[in-house]
Amino acid sequence: MKKLVFSLLFILFVFTQFSFQDKPKFDLKASITRGKEIYTAQCITCHQEQGEGIEDVYPPLAKSDYLMADKTRSIQQVLHGASGEITVNGKTYNGDMPAFDLTDQEVSDLLNYVRNSWGNKGAAVTPNEVASARK
Ligand code: HEC
Repeated sequence: MKKLVFSLLFILFVFTQFSFQDKPKFDLKASITRGKEIYTAQCITCHQEQGEGIEDVYPPLAKSDYLMADKTRSIQQVLHGASGEITVNGKTYNGDMPAFDLTDQEVSDLLNYVRNSWGNKGAAVTPNEVASARK
């Protein structure tokens, strides 16, 4: 009887080890590195290399209160673009940002880069969060 209990416990132990390996932790660092490439290709012309934007035309992403205030809104901003008046760090902007045709992972990588560069520090955006914000 004792032997049976021990072997059952052992099997349980082996199972939990394997199931933990199946779900690796989200690798934020790798995501940020990939995101930088997408940013450089798609966003830099307007929001600039240091995320500083262009005065009175393109709002900054560096230390942007608007960006950091709402994760879901920032996902939708990239997917659908945006227009109309917004206030970023106390300054108003009223321009047009185009929509971007990117995968869930690309949007996640991009926002992880933007939310963790130039003085920004934000929690990871996962591809799953992008998928649900898309709906
Ligand atoms: C053609 C220029 C242009 C490009 C390219 C562009 N944006 Fe924008 N972006 C804008 C404008 C203009 C606004 C302000 C829109 C408004 O007035 O409602 C904006 C606003 C934003 C905002 C919200 C305001 C803020 O400063 O926090 C975020 C976040 C953002 N853009 C991210 C991105 C990302 C990420 C990319 C690359 C995928 C990108 N943008 C590409 C022009 C652009």
